[in-house]
Amino acid sequence: MSLPKAELHLHIEGTLEPELAFELAARNGVELPYADTDSLRTAYQFEDLQSFLNLYYELMAVLRTERDFEDLANAYLARAAAQGVRHAEIFFDPQAHLARGVEMGTVVEGLWRALGSSARNHGVSTQLIMCFLRDESAESALETLDAAKPYLDRIVGVGLDSAEVGHPPVKFREVYEAAAALGLRRVAHAGEEGPPEYIVEALDVLGVERIDHGLRCVESPELVARLVRDRVPLTLCPLSNVRLRTVDVLGDHPLPAMLDAGLMCTVNSDDPAYFGGYAGDNFEAVQQALGLSEERLRELARNSFLASFLEHDEELRAR
Ligand code: HPA
Ligand code: ZN
Repeated sequence: MSLPKAELHLHIEGTLEPELAFELAARNGVELPYADTDSLRTAYQFEDLQSFLNLYYELMAVLRTERDFEDLANAYLARAAAQGVRHAEIFFDPQAHLARGVEMGTVVEGLWRALGSSARNHGVSTQLIMCFLRDESAESALETLDAAKPYLDRIVGVGLDSAEVGHPPVKFREVYEAAAALGLRRVAHAGEEGPPEYIVEALDVLGVERIDHGLRCVESPELVARLVRDRVPLTLCPLSNVRLRTVDVLGDHPLPAMLDAGLMCTVNSDDPAYFGGYAGDNFEAVQQALGLSEERLRELARNSFLASFLEHDEELRAR
């Protein structure tokens, strides 16, 4: 769907399509444990978040050079642009690369080669958000923030991703305080598989401005009331929720009820190469499965710009 929109929840490593994975594997002499793209695709049957993350981290082995990260980002930006994305706030997971001996500079400079010219080449403005892996230690997150210091002019904010349950936001209080002191914006995944309390903690302890996913807020009426009152944006990812089985079928997704409740929802693709679609595909899928009206779709698109870290003008706010 080509409705102009911003994408606010997108892991660049999750845009690695099987074809590019094999191309990069051949270029870098990396052996993948799959015979071809078809047999790799058959591995895309996930039980939950962890079963997806296992494959997601495994395939990252093919990303080694600046050029690899540049090619990855350019492929995403071209696809996103074709689906109406005009602005993208892109997550990356440096710890997953540092652990394999790929340096922060390789990742950031490589991504930047594509992002720096994206407005011109793809008509998509971009921001980078550096995520900490919540199943790694708090010390490792602090070291990662330190390693990013030479590149802070290219990073708008920090996020928190990977295995949620058992890794509450409070574990990352110190690194979020340090990030805030450096002037970085703050977001965090919360309430994807984890309980509503993790959403409350992300707001109260980490000071986040948006909640990534946030789906499980619907279990707490007080929390919903707070999110509505404070206009806290939620970056929902409907196709991801189905593939990772947080929602049984798309027709059961709580998005319409969440919009009716007054929550500031946005629709995003999360890891589109793995979950069956890019931003426009997610819009189309929810329109079809949930019967969303044109007005609701426009609201979602407008929310995506309002919730972005772009400076928005009064005219857009008033619309
Ligand atoms: N949730 C948590 N961590 C992730 C995700 C996700 O959807 N995608 C990539 N890392
Ligand atoms: Zn995500």
